[in-house]
Amino acid sequence: MSANSPNKLFKSELQDMYSAEQQILNALEEMSEEVEDEELREAFSQHREQTQGQIDRLEQVFEKVGMEPEADECKAIGGLIEEHEEFTQKDPSTSELEIFDNVSAQKVEHYEIASYGSLAKLADQLGMDDAGDLLHETLEEEEQTLTKLVNLANDYDYDQLQGEA
Ligand SMILES: [Fe+2]
Repeated sequence: MSANSPNKLFKSELQDMYSAEQQILNALEEMSEEVEDEELREAFSQHREQTQGQIDRLEQVFEKVGMEPEADECKAIGGLIEEHEEFTQKDPSTSELEIFDNVSAQKVEHYEIASYGSLAKLADQLGMDDAGDLLHETLEEEEQTLTKLVNLANDYDYDQLQGEA
């Protein structure tokens, strides 16, 4: 690896997340509209607002490291959104869709936690302290969101789902 590698990796991860967050913003809007469970709906719309803040924070990170904000299409999140489209076309019941949406959102959080964890560590190692602080802040939000989704999923009544099959 060249001496430049950590910088290159940082840049490509940052551009990937800039695309990911924008896709997530739209997906959260759709998901908050299609579920009926109040708590889940609230969790999605709250996280949508948080996601807008995370996009702003990414723009600050670009600025701190002297880069123009630029998105590089995140195919992983795009793939999860495609799977969501496919599932909704199968005409699921409301509770099936709610469970699917919760799990999809958890998958998104795992992706984001891995990416922000790596970005925050790279920023720390490269001595980009301000960028690192911003990335750690977002990482913490993603971890809290994942915990909230897992707690909601633990409350689901899978017996009800069996009755629908
Ligand atoms: Fe996010």
